[in-house]
Amino acid sequence: MRTLIRNGLVVTADGSFEADVLVEGEQIEAIVRRAPGAAATALAGVAADETIDATGKYVVPGGIDVHTHFELPFGGTFAKDTFETGTKAAAHGGTTTVVDFAPQSKGRPLREGLDAWLAKAEGHSVLDYGFHMMMADVNDATLVEMDELVAEGVPDFKLFTAYPGVFFSPDDHIYRAMRRTRENGGLIMMHAENGPVIDVIAADLVAAGTTDPIGHGLARYAVLEKEATSRVIHLAEAAGVPVYIVHLSSRDALEAVTEARDRGALAFAETCPQYLFLSLDDLGNGFEGAKFVCSPPLRPRDHQEDLWRGLRRDDLQLVATDHCPFDFHGQKELGRGDFRKIPNGLPAVEDRVDLLHDGGVVGGRISRERWVEIMATNPAKLFGMYPRKGTIAVGSDADLLVYDPNRRRTISAATHHMDVDYSVFEGRVVQGASDLVMSRGTILVRDGAWVGPAGHGRFVRRAPADYVRRA
Ligand code: URP
Ligand code: ZN
Ligand code: ZN
Repeated sequence: MRTLIRNGLVVTADGSFEADVLVEGEQIEAIVRRAPGAAATALAGVAADETIDATGKYVVPGGIDVHTHFELPFGGTFAKDTFETGTKAAAHGGTTTVVDFAPQSKGRPLREGLDAWLAKAEGHSVLDYGFHMMMADVNDATLVEMDELVAEGVPDFKLFTAYPGVFFSPDDHIYRAMRRTRENGGLIMMHAENGPVIDVIAADLVAAGTTDPIGHGLARYAVLEKEATSRVIHLAEAAGVPVYIVHLSSRDALEAVTEARDRGALAFAETCPQYLFLSLDDLGNGFEGAKFVCSPPLRPRDHQEDLWRGLRRDDLQLVATDHCPFDFHGQKELGRGDFRKIPNGLPAVEDRVDLLHDGGVVGGRISRERWVEIMATNPAKLFGMYPRKGTIAVGSDADLLVYDPNRRRTISAATHHMDVDYSVFEGRVVQGASDLVMSRGTILVRDGAWVGPAGHGRFVRRAPADYVRRA
């Protein structure tokens, strides 16, 4: 199959230019710039099975979301989207690759968790997918397994200073895992909140009668995110390795990352759409606030502009969703009467690309090139997929969006494709939407309609990202 995309404005992290893009099979075969004033490029007459007119549109790399949780067991239930529903929803929103977290069950081998997640994805995911490993135990056996997983294309490991009794790791375990990545080239990703202290504060709040979802936001102090962020960066410096902070939510934690980067530490961080667009106020509407419970929690609104500044200054390198959806009815309701029992997480995988375009580019906070960089290019670079993915270049996978920067749409649970009964962005009007979503040369979504084959996605064996060691 040969597809020619004509007359678009190609936008990459490095710049924008008018060009035609020729896709042959699964890869980009040619990119020919249109000379100023010229009506057509040399590709105009090339034989193609399909020619797409992208006049007035951007041609951009498909989005890469490096933080999703499909089917994750949490708080006595499971994140609702499967690999099939979740990746289809992601595709509708302009994402073409996801990296999900395969969870290790406490006391069980890492491999068992990874195999279970590979089986869930294979034949079901419509998007190319990779995995990070979520580690519950750091011990002699799992350290050896880490080496094996790095060699098999699963080179990153999430550890937690939160969730005592579930995923929490003490500092010595974190340090041992970090040391191991010094040898095997892997990357440690940290959920950085001081979980044990948060649990004390949360118990005090419940004892004093605060049981509504707002208690979740009140208990998880931003300073306890900052403390844990600073601590794990120092641990990484002691171990002599880079570290990546997931779902950074607050100005306070950003200060810790910025200070570390200013002194030359190899500290990297993502934030998420919910922290850029939602706030602590959303947690405050009685039990309705349960829809917005995630960890770290939403912060006061005035943190948002600091996070945007972090994205502009590259103290935050990318935006991922931490997509972890639970129905309000029947799942979030498990926490009625005690906010500690509300499953943590919210749906966002479908909305990330458009929200960032609207709030970022249309909102005048970032350039369209930086938009591409934080939603596709940097995720590919930091997670070992570049330049195969995350850019528009000859030989790269043809993971492309024909993107209309002017189309407006209203986000709603009534029209979204995620398998969850509410939207945290309900009623928000966003400017910018994908007219066409292509994955490895196959069109998946056209004008909002699914046209792709089932189970199109393939496992992406990722290289340890030397980018984080050279940065
Ligand atoms: O609330 C969240 N973030 N749920 C998913 C699990 C995690 O910590 O990423
Ligand atoms: Zn986390
Ligand atoms: Zn997460």
